[in-house]
Amino acid sequence: MQALLNEVLDQVRPLIGKGKVADYIPALADVPADQLGIAVYGNDGELFTAGDAQTPFSIQSISKVFSLVQAIQHSGEAIWERLGHEPSGQPFNSLLQLELENGRPRNPFINAGALVISDINQSRFAAPVLSMRDFVRRLSGNAHVAVDNRIAESEYQHRARNAAMAYLMQSFGNFHNDVEMVLRGYFSHCALSMNCVDLAKAFCFLANDGFCKHSGEQVLSVRQTQQVNSIMATSGLYDEAGNFAYRVGLPGKSGVGGGIVAVVPGQYTICVWSPELNAAGNSLAGMAALEVLSERIGWSVF
Ligand code: DON
Repeated sequence: MQALLNEVLDQVRPLIGKGKVADYIPALADVPADQLGIAVYGNDGELFTAGDAQTPFSIQSISKVFSLVQAIQHSGEAIWERLGHEPSGQPFNSLLQLELENGRPRNPFINAGALVISDINQSRFAAPVLSMRDFVRRLSGNAHVAVDNRIAESEYQHRARNAAMAYLMQSFGNFHNDVEMVLRGYFSHCALSMNCVDLAKAFCFLANDGFCKHSGEQVLSVRQTQQVNSIMATSGLYDEAGNFAYRVGLPGKSGVGGGIVAVVPGQYTICVWSPELNAAGNSLAGMAALEVLSERIGWSVF
């Protein structure tokens, strides 16, 4: 595995320079583009890394899985009264469908859906960001995971699109808390700073029937774990979910910080990171690395 990871990174490194670092959040535009890392964590606790696997980056939309899992933990199936679990076929920050569908987001991974999940968590937790940070610290086994406040503030200053979505949902009665407060919370969890190792470990319960071995926590039931993986497989990469299923064949979740996490049910979690994105907002080299690795090992679930 170790030799294979080095080989895969060498193979995809020439893609660096062909994508574009996210710049709609100004603080993300400063990240040096020529970075590439990968971590693979096995259900038996074995860890393999290559490249910049220990360098922290902004997890961005990958955090939407943690907020969804927390909402499922406290509210179960009731959350689906507020949003769906269908792929949107639209960019992650699109407003178009939201009005046509009466303020009910298609799924929890597009921004509108993640904002509804943040609203649900805001109603439940006294301090939603701290509760998520502590949850992620336990899952990753890293007690130093923290929010990068500079990035959270930069997102808040450039919140027009996300604010428009949240206020539109409020106009349809699908938003219950103060919009600005929920936006602050959402930007803070997107601005959690983690590295590939942290994320591969934090997602391991999704490869292991909902159980996180190193924290000793049954995070979700077996059935709920299958359901979260199914939403990742159908919506985790937005309007590129079909391409990801075709090329990689695993449940996955991406973020505009350039991270992608993928789950091999019953076996491994993988986190790959490279900051330059393709047109759909997913890591260009990261997708390619997962494609090569999945093909070489035969990981596709299809
Ligand atoms: O709200 C936003 O636009 C960002 N905080 C998260 C977007 C994101 O990561 C989309 N992923 N590919």
